[in-house]
Amino acid sequence: MKISIPIRPRRNRVSESVRDMVREHSLKSSDLIMPLFVIDGQNQRQPVESMPGIDRLSTDLIVEKCRKLFDLSVPAVVLFPALEESCKDPLASESYNEKGLYHRTLRAIKEAVPGLTVITDVAMDPYSSDGHDGVVSEQGKIVNDQTLPILAKMAVSQAKCGADIIAPSDMMDGRVGIIREALDEEGFTDVGILAYSAKYASAYYGPFRDALDSAPKHGDKKTYQMDPANVREAIREVTLDIEEGADMVMVKPGLPYLDVIRAVSEISEVPVAVYNVSGEYAMIKAAGLKGWIDYQQVVMETMIGFKRAGADLILTYHAEEVAGWLK
Ligand code: PBG
Repeated sequence: MKISIPIRPRRNRVSESVRDMVREHSLKSSDLIMPLFVIDGQNQRQPVESMPGIDRLSTDLIVEKCRKLFDLSVPAVVLFPALEESCKDPLASESYNEKGLYHRTLRAIKEAVPGLTVITDVAMDPYSSDGHDGVVSEQGKIVNDQTLPILAKMAVSQAKCGADIIAPSDMMDGRVGIIREALDEEGFTDVGILAYSAKYASAYYGPFRDALDSAPKHGDKKTYQMDPANVREAIREVTLDIEEGADMVMVKPGLPYLDVIRAVSEISEVPVAVYNVSGEYAMIKAAGLKGWIDYQQVVMETMIGFKRAGADLILTYHAEEVAGWLK
C-alpha cells in the first residue's frame, strides 16, 4: 500500500543537527541567578536539610562560592541572611545595620568578585522576630505604610555596601516607588530594582523558611502575598511596579505558575524573571536522589520550560549545577 502524507513534522527532528537548527528557545548560563544563604562565623557550612546539596555558608565560603559561580559564567547571585534569633526584633533593625553579617558579606563579595552582580533582598522577614515581611500591629495586622520607610532604609544601606540590584520580596503596596525615590535621593541612580511583583502565598517556600528559620510566628502571609488562584491580579501588580520604576519584574514560584510567566511576559516592558523556589528544588532533588527520575534531564527540561513560558532570567538553586553542565 502506498501511503501519501504531504506534511511530515518529523523531518525537522531527523537528526541532532537539524534539531539544533530548528530549536525555538535556548538556555545559557547568563540566564541564571543563584540564591545563597549566609551565616555567621568562619569556615562554616550548614546543610539545609530539606534542600540536599544546598548549604548555609559563612562569609568566607560564600566568597569562594561566588568566585566559582562567576567562573562558571553565572552573572548574578541573590543573597539571604540566616540569623540567630537574638539578632531579630519587631522592627527588623538588623536589616539596615551596615556592620552586620549581611552587609559585611555584601562588601566582601563585591571586593573579591567585582564583576559578579549582587542582588540584595529587601523584606523584613529574615530580621523580624514576628517572621513577617512587614511590621505587625498589636492586633496582628501587617501595617503597609509603617513598613515602607524600613524597606527604603534597608535598600539604601545595601546600596551603600555595593548592592548592584535591589530586590524587594515583601509585597507591600508602593514599595518600589519609595525605594526608587530613596535610592535616587542618595545618589544611587545606577542601582536597579528587581521587583518580586507577582509573588504568591505559596506552600513551596517551606524549605527556604527552614533555611532561614523565618516562618511567620503567627498567621500566614495571605494579606500581602497573592492568591494562587489569580492571574489578572498579577498583571496589575506588574504594571504598578513598572510604573513605580522597577527595572525587572518577577513571578514566584515558577513551575505551578508558568501561565503567569506567559501572561506577564506578554505585557511587560522590562525583563521578566522567575523564581524556581526552594520547594520546587526539593521535589526534583529528592526524586533524583531516590533514582526515580533522571535528575539532570528533568532539571534541564524545567529550565527550558521557564524560557519557553517567557522568562528572561531564572533564579534557581540548580544554577551552579546547570552552569556546570552547560560548560
Ligand atoms: C520572603 C521570601 C520568601 C522567599 C524568598 N524571600 C518566601 C517567604 O518566606 O514568604 C522564598 C524563596 C524560596 O522558597 O526559595 N521575603
